[in-house]
Amino acid sequence: MTKKYDIGLIGLAVMGQNLALNIEDKGFSVAAYNRSSDKTTSFISQRAEDKNIKGCFSLEELVKTLSSPRKIILMVKAGQPVDMVIESLLPYLDEGDIIIDGGNSHFEDTDRRFSELQEKAIHFLGTGISGGEYGALHGPSLMPGGEEKVYTQVEDIFTAIAAQTENGPCVAYLGPRSAGHYVKMVHNGIEYGVMALTAEIYDIMRKALGLKPAVMAELFQSWNQTQNSYLLEITAEILEKEDPETGEALIDVILDTAKQKGTGKWSAEEALNLGWPVPTITAAVNSRSISSFKDQREKINSRLGGFDRAEVDQSGFLVKLEKALYLGTIIAYSEGMSLLEAASSQYDYNLELAEVARIWEDGCIIRSNLLQPIRNAYLNEDFVHLISADEFQADFTKHVQALRDVVSTVKTLGLPIPALSSALDYFDMLRSKELPANLIQAQRDYFGAHTYQRRDKDGSFHTEWQDIHNI
Ligand code: 6PG
Repeated sequence: MTKKYDIGLIGLAVMGQNLALNIEDKGFSVAAYNRSSDKTTSFISQRAEDKNIKGCFSLEELVKTLSSPRKIILMVKAGQPVDMVIESLLPYLDEGDIIIDGGNSHFEDTDRRFSELQEKAIHFLGTGISGGEYGALHGPSLMPGGEEKVYTQVEDIFTAIAAQTENGPCVAYLGPRSAGHYVKMVHNGIEYGVMALTAEIYDIMRKALGLKPAVMAELFQSWNQTQNSYLLEITAEILEKEDPETGEALIDVILDTAKQKGTGKWSAEEALNLGWPVPTITAAVNSRSISSFKDQREKINSRLGGFDRAEVDQSGFLVKLEKALYLGTIIAYSEGMSLLEAASSQYDYNLELAEVARIWEDGCIIRSNLLQPIRNAYLNEDFVHLISADEFQADFTKHVQALRDVVSTVKTLGLPIPALSSALDYFDMLRSKELPANLIQAQRDYFGAHTYQRRDKDGSFHTEWQDIHNI
């Protein structure tokens, strides 16, 4: 009898290769396929040499090589390629086989694929995978969604390959249909938020305080002692890297325009759709877009001028920057977690937010010590919001003035800090008992007779704001 393999993997770019090697390393046999066969051949003869990994040169061969029910992970580009691969696989699959989409697919695509495949009795697990190339090889955070009974069939593999923490492996069944890809989308939204906050702090340090990258690297490193955030850690490493060509700090020769594949934008769109905004994350998405208008920015700068130089006294301000970044970061996480709460009820995902925080504790890009108190906060039955949770209330009370001082000082200099200021506005709005929305209600009623609610009695009211006889 020919040997049957435990799991199939389609898509041998670096992430796919690394995931295959990780799975094999945990004792599972892998059948691997890539559309262009050169990649399969070189993978099998080099990185996968002597491993329990078989290269397949057609989808039919891949499917035939697998034990039943077949489990096949797709590590292909999100969007149409996923549909194309599924369509090409279908003729060879049997009822009960399982397709796992490990890419950054849009959750609505995942819902559609789930239903289409359900009609054919093929199971589908939309699974967010975070941690980049390193994570894929050494232990990512996995965010699977779909049918729970299907998840149990891959649980042993997922549990073995995920990053491991004291609180368990960084994987958990998250919820039905697109729950996994939704959580991954929000993970990336938070990623955008924290990256933008860090970039703004860097900008203040270089432009308002005149610090050199190596000095900033030390600061970020020391601030990270308690946070242990992956994004802060890599920021420090980036800032100390030298450009071998020029001998300059590499960061200084990198162009100031950033691309985006879309997951951050999807989070912002979704937040607007659900009416539970994520202003820091949205500001981060907008910042990336504006960064890409390099030509336009240069032309506008030549007419209007831009930020030039400033002399902000470093003493005391650096401590404030550290606190501002810390609180801004908690706010970015809290926006994302709140969006997940809203989505969980809107889409009946039934998400356990404490579990989401737990599986982000390691392996993923937003991993940080902050995830532990976030998890604890969600375990509390009286939970209202992260910013007022026992775990963070004292930090906000003690340090919000630092965030305020940073935002106000930097604003007067004319240096843009959209993520930091959005984070502060979000905080200030959420802690406001009184907002000016009474005026908005009155305006709507004035021009559109949309009615308004009163403080002193229930019901909907309308006022004839104008004397119609005088119109
Ligand atoms: C991860 C990352 C990963 C990838 C993003 C970046 O969790 O491992 O988030 O998914 O780096 O796709 O996306 P942008 O191109 O939008 O920055």
